Amino acid sequence: MFGTFGTVFAPILVSSMERDRKLPLIPLTFAPRATAALDPDDLFDDPTYSTDGPLSDQWGRRVKSLRISVTDRCNFRCVYCMPEEGLDWLPKDKILSYEELARLTRILVGMGVENVRLTGGEPLVRRDLPVLVRMLSGIPGLRSLSLTTNGYFLKELAGDLAAAGLTRINVSLDTLQRDKFHEITRRDCLERVLEGLAECERYPSLRPIKVNAVAVRGFTEEEIPAFAALARRKPYLVRFIEYMPIDGDAAWTRDRVLTGGEILGEMRKLYPLEAIPVDDPAQTSRDFRFADGAGTVGFINPVSEPFCEACDRIRLTADGQIRTCLFSVTETDVRGPMRAGADDAEVAEVLRRAVWRKELKHHINDPGFVRASRSMSQIGG
Ligand code: 5AD
Ligand code: SF4
Repeated sequence: MFGTFGTVFAPILVSSMERDRKLPLIPLTFAPRATAALDPDDLFDDPTYSTDGPLSDQWGRRVKSLRISVTDRCNFRCVYCMPEEGLDWLPKDKILSYEELARLTRILVGMGVENVRLTGGEPLVRRDLPVLVRMLSGIPGLRSLSLTTNGYFLKELAGDLAAAGLTRINVSLDTLQRDKFHEITRRDCLERVLEGLAECERYPSLRPIKVNAVAVRGFTEEEIPAFAALARRKPYLVRFIEYMPIDGDAAWTRDRVLTGGEILGEMRKLYPLEAIPVDDPAQTSRDFRFADGAGTVGFINPVSEPFCEACDRIRLTADGQIRTCLFSVTETDVRGPMRAGADDAEVAEVLRRAVWRKELKHHINDPGFVRASRSMSQIGG
């Protein structure tokens, strides 16, 4: 079914290396990269830019959520995410240590970040991840600490993660059929992932357990009844995510996007569904409960119904670059300043300036859309 996915990996665009000339606190040797779209000088002519107060961007959005990619490596090769082979791993010395990650998180929480999600690649391939979870969960002011995983190692690690203070978990699962699982992940291990999910049920602090399915036309339609049944039978919130043009194979086409609206329509033919009111405006998913029984399903529709205007997220890559949008074409280096000895106030200023320049929206639906400078496995979902 995925035979037409290309096998050639799209070359990664090199980020702008232009230097921010007006950063007074930090020597030029580790000044952050400026965004190509904005003259860094403009920032300081902007009367609304403030060097204190809660972290916010130039469009007035507060930034409260941080997604940390702890590794670019993964033991799966999902067709909508990674190429089968040919992806170069980041060198070890460029990967942020747990101490560096904890320091950055502490600084960001001090600036108003409330929610942290650990992602990858596959975060659980990084050694001793529960140690990082424990370090982060102890940061005062952090409200939630969650993990997005492919589920492969959950059977062994769910207990340790819960004990270390993880409060939420998202498991990627695109099909409940073994052969289709093999086809989409290029690995034959559906049973192990299901066992990992079941293991999570044993730890009541890990709630809700979210199951995320990327919705691809020609693949996902026939999964709808099985996922609906799963959501009704198990304490899992099953969510469908529209396929986005951030795949390592650069094979995305619009006609392969199966929209959340289409899936909802199909599901409504099977069961009555009622919308759950949204309590957090930055919530990406639109959730529905089954009116005739237990269970919840959700729809994340970044392509058909972009939610950029309420976006409160930034991302940190495993090699210490801040990305203010999943689809960013430039990044801000924080690893350099940290390793060159910047103090917390200096690091905070680098972060604040990066956040200020957060993109207004993604341009998936605009003519001339430019693909992100990295693919999904290098950013983290
Ligand atoms: N489109 C939508 N979601 C994707 N993910 C990975 N690649 C894509 C894509 N091209 C999702 C995974 C996982 C999270 C890390 O991101 O399924 O849930
Ligand atoms: Fe790995 Fe997740 Fe990407 Fe699949 S979607 S290849 S599990 S990082």
